[in-house]
Amino acid sequence: MRLRDYVLSALEDAAGESVSGEALARSYGVTRAAVWKAVDRLRKSGCPITGFCGAGSQSGGGGYVLDPSYDPLDARRISAALKALEPASGGAAYCLPDESRLYVFSEIESTNTWAKKQAAEKGETLHGTVFLAERQTAGHGRLGRPFFSPASGLYLSIVFCPRGPINPAHFTAAAAVAVCMALGDLYNADCRIKWVNDIFLKGKKVCGILCEGIGGLETGRVEAVVAGIGINLREPSGGFPPEIAHVAGAVLTEAASAGWLIPTRRNELAAAVIRYALKFFSDENLRPAMLEEYRRRSLILGREVTVHPLAGVSADGEDGSYRARAVAITDDAALVVQTPDGGQRVLQAGEVSLGVH
Ligand code: BTN
Repeated sequence: MRLRDYVLSALEDAAGESVSGEALARSYGVTRAAVWKAVDRLRKSGCPITGFCGAGSQSGGGGYVLDPSYDPLDARRISAALKALEPASGGAAYCLPDESRLYVFSEIESTNTWAKKQAAEKGETLHGTVFLAERQTAGHGRLGRPFFSPASGLYLSIVFCPRGPINPAHFTAAAAVAVCMALGDLYNADCRIKWVNDIFLKGKKVCGILCEGIGGLETGRVEAVVAGIGINLREPSGGFPPEIAHVAGAVLTEAASAGWLIPTRRNELAAAVIRYALKFFSDENLRPAMLEEYRRRSLILGREVTVHPLAGVSADGEDGSYRARAVAITDDAALVVQTPDGGQRVLQAGEVSLGVH
């Protein structure tokens, strides 16, 4: 790790507290002047570091403070975090992307839209590539709904080209488990999954997942899966829009009452999500354990839900919705519900809510 990266990560770990130049120099085995130079370079590249600076501090030492809200996405740092998580991925059933396969945008319409376009043009060569954005201007979720994507979150799309036929529901389930495990590793957050694609923390939706497939007309099968993941990390500066304010939450607000002090560490979070997701996508032997974790984290199993079948699938009520109890999740990631008359239905698609509407 370069001294500059080391200093930045030490200041990030300090979460807004001051770190002395002397301590930084000692722990990296360099002079205070070298630390000062590294800080100076970081500042010139836009890092909001306050504290001692200038020639006087080179000899006198002093503390440096990084604004704890500063956390830009950076392909090199994501790649370094991936390597730290998986130092020898060579023998693994999956291949983690290196820096050249991590594309970071400060702003984009939608990482999924972009990833699909790229995958359609470039085919298999895009396998394992990840597109990430600080914010999206036209993020979208299931059924074409808008997905609010301000700078306080993390938005990424992973391209995976399967070798044979797939069940798309496995990818959504795997991505959901990957996000839960990554949020657990980084922030100790204990998330729940609302079938099929929503992640909840303390009763609030903190993440949505949208897996889309690109089909090959000639092969008649899904040639690329684009797994899109949007995580609300912090409360947006102007709050969530009124239409989602009752349900949306931010991981760091829900994870700790003093959430604003927890550094977001978006690059490390991105690396953890990518690693878990690619691991589950690639290694079929992990599927039973993944599905077990999906069930264990279910927000709805054993509870009364309202089922909203996708348009045209059912004609039970005016909008087709009906009350039922969620009783199981099958090995195909389908939801089994029990209706009040004692019958069972297996839902491959659709949506459930916990309220009566
Ligand atoms: C949902 O809640 O219905 C799913 C939301 C999925 C949002 C993610 S953010 C990254 C990727 N880009 C998009 O436009 N959508 C997905």
